[in-house]
Amino acid sequence: MARHLITSALPYINGIKHLGNMVGSMLPADVYSRYLRRRGHEVLYICATDEHGTPAELAAKERGVPVDVFCSEAHDAQKAVYDGFALAFDHFGRSSSTQNVEITQHFARRLNENGFIEERAIRQVYSPADGRFLPDRYVEGTCPHCGYDKARGDQCENCTRVLDPTDLINPRSAISGSTELEVRETKHLFLLQSKLQHEVEEWVARHEEEWPQLAASIARKWLNEGLHDRAITRDLDWGVPVPADTWPELAAEGKVFYVWFDAPIEYIGATKEWADSAPDGETRDWKSWWYDVDDSVRYTEFMAKDNVPFHTVMFPATELGVREPWKKVDYVKAFNWLTYYGGKFSTSQKRGVFTDQALDILPADYWRYFLIANAPESDDSSFTWEHFTTTVNKDLADTLGNFVNRVLSFSRKRFGEEVPAGGEPGEAEAALGEEIARLLAEYETQMEALQFRKAAAALRALWSAGNSYLEEKAPWLEIKTDQDGAALTLRTAMNLIHLYAVVSEPFIPASATAMRRAFSLSGDTASWVTHEEARALTSVPVGTPFTVPPVLFAKLTDDDLAAYKERFGGEPGA
Ligand code: MF3
Ligand code: ZN
Repeated sequence: MARHLITSALPYINGIKHLGNMVGSMLPADVYSRYLRRRGHEVLYICATDEHGTPAELAAKERGVPVDVFCSEAHDAQKAVYDGFALAFDHFGRSSSTQNVEITQHFARRLNENGFIEERAIRQVYSPADGRFLPDRYVEGTCPHCGYDKARGDQCENCTRVLDPTDLINPRSAISGSTELEVRETKHLFLLQSKLQHEVEEWVARHEEEWPQLAASIARKWLNEGLHDRAITRDLDWGVPVPADTWPELAAEGKVFYVWFDAPIEYIGATKEWADSAPDGETRDWKSWWYDVDDSVRYTEFMAKDNVPFHTVMFPATELGVREPWKKVDYVKAFNWLTYYGGKFSTSQKRGVFTDQALDILPADYWRYFLIANAPESDDSSFTWEHFTTTVNKDLADTLGNFVNRVLSFSRKRFGEEVPAGGEPGEAEAALGEEIARLLAEYETQMEALQFRKAAAALRALWSAGNSYLEEKAPWLEIKTDQDGAALTLRTAMNLIHLYAVVSEPFIPASATAMRRAFSLSGDTASWVTHEEARALTSVPVGTPFTVPPVLFAKLTDDDLAAYKERFGGEPGA
């Protein structure tokens, strides 16, 4: 038994996420957490909304509500979708929490004491009409290259050229439209990452061999390019304030930390939120997860590949520079992109399937299984409605759902509502048991290696093995000549259903519960199946009362497929 700390990249607050975001962070983290819990490990799965920064301010402004109100509503909306997906976080926090403010400020003070923070003056656009410095993307004007008149200060959307706000012709404030802009000198805090390069390199070198290639190669690339000092403060109203005890002048000017400085610290902040929200009588020790004094915790992070530099290089640099034993990541599970018909899922262009829409269409288990079975692990993978409907029909409806229903209804019809007695297990049962034990071992190996597609394939193979056994024994024929034999077959198949309930739970928790509840087993615990139990297939004893659950997975029709394609568009680049 080990203690597993698990985090998934914090979803940004401005809007509901699409399926690509889901499969690249939260969903696999949930599957892994559920698996480890079942195996009896102590697991803490932490996530939160990432709430600070310019995009949050802009989204709130667009909606015409104060940014704190916007964020708290948007947090609840995201949380509701994640509940719908059955993501079993131990805590889903908010990076704007007081806990995160305190820990972020503590980190900054320590970095400063240790000589890793420096105040530097930079020149920035100031808008007297707005009474504030404008971040690059708040400055609009005419592109000097292509003449597009709504170019932003960071980039021209029309010709894609990267710009500096001072390049723009006729610059104006994107907030008020004011054209009376000035360039003023202002001070910001810089994190001297260059001073930490060597240490980060040593730390990465000690870990990269264990990391998957995608994570290791991105970390290497960033280190090879060299760690640069970077500004970690911004002139925004919304963010973690620069602490006045350490930087009175900057605090008085209303500077806040840059969102990428405080966001990863929220992994820790959210753990403290979890501890602070313990029900009466329960104590939760957040520091035992994060303050690494005895190396008792294994920390696994889940994220899409664009997040890897922040998690393998920059956040570790921050943690190292603090000079306190904060837990650093042990294993980085990174994902490539899920595409929509080979093109990009796009939040801004509303292209692809969003997580709330997905749940409108079908229950979470359909999505959970499909997404994990096709996770973009070694390469990008493409979502198409054709592939989705085929997978649901074949794997979930036919192989698993139909097996469960057929076995239970047939047995009820012929032998009543209790698991029938029948004969002693013979050769076919012994062979089945061997096969199940072998596949279970394979499933466990792949889960422990965080190879999700391969784990899904092993799970599917477990389901198929039941079908092959049933086809071979054909109890619907057997019953005509050998009642006891048919009863044995059905009893064995019912034991498979129970085993499926246990081992499928990380992937399809609601259906797994339905399968498990089909049997009234006294003292049925959440424990995992041993290989001996898998071989014997006798955990559900003769005489156990059972019910036939409603159809677990509906078959999707051609009309369903046509309707999905009609609603979402099902062509490349459509
Ligand atoms: N919100 C970021 C994104 O969507 C991820 C933040 S992860 C954290 O890319 F580590 F910073 F929290
Ligand atoms: Zn341009």
